[in-house]
Amino acid sequence: MAGKRTFTMIKPDAVKAGHIGAILEMINGAGFRIVAMKMTHLSSQKAGEFYEVHKERPFYGELVDFMSSGAIVAAILEKDNAVEDFRTLIGATDPAKAAPGTIRALYAKNVGENAVHGSDSDDNAAIESAFHFAVTEMF
Ligand code: RTP
Ligand code: MG
Repeated sequence: MAGKRTFTMIKPDAVKAGHIGAILEMINGAGFRIVAMKMTHLSSQKAGEFYEVHKERPFYGELVDFMSSGAIVAAILEKDNAVEDFRTLIGATDPAKAAPGTIRALYAKNVGENAVHGSDSDDNAAIESAFHFAVTEMF
């Protein structure tokens, strides 16, 4: 059965561009409930740990530098079928390929600086949520 929670980050490009409010509006409008949320700044070590699965990919260094380049907003979101429905709401990794009206189509700059993160499985949603939040910070 598909899980009810996913994890997201509004990435430094979208925070710097002033899109936090618009993106949260889209998230709420799509029926997600905010379970946990904070604005924070990842160190390059923390960003490297978060994206450790991509360690061997050619873009890893660039990704770690980007994710630690400014503040992010981290959040846990709840809805039936959360992981899949959130991936649909954010659109493809590359905004040029993202469906019209998706968060990345509207707010991402390019395939690297792409406005938002969304977990890719229920297991990773749980791991990523625990990476950023204590149980006492989830409501
Ligand atoms: P995310 O994990 O951030 O939600 O993104 P995703 O699943 O759509 O894409 P993924 O393959 O997991 O890649 C993670 C992040 O790495 C950066 N990236 N850069 N330069 C490139 O070709 C490239 N490819 C990926 C993006 O920031 C991507 O979201
Ligand atoms: Mg991913």
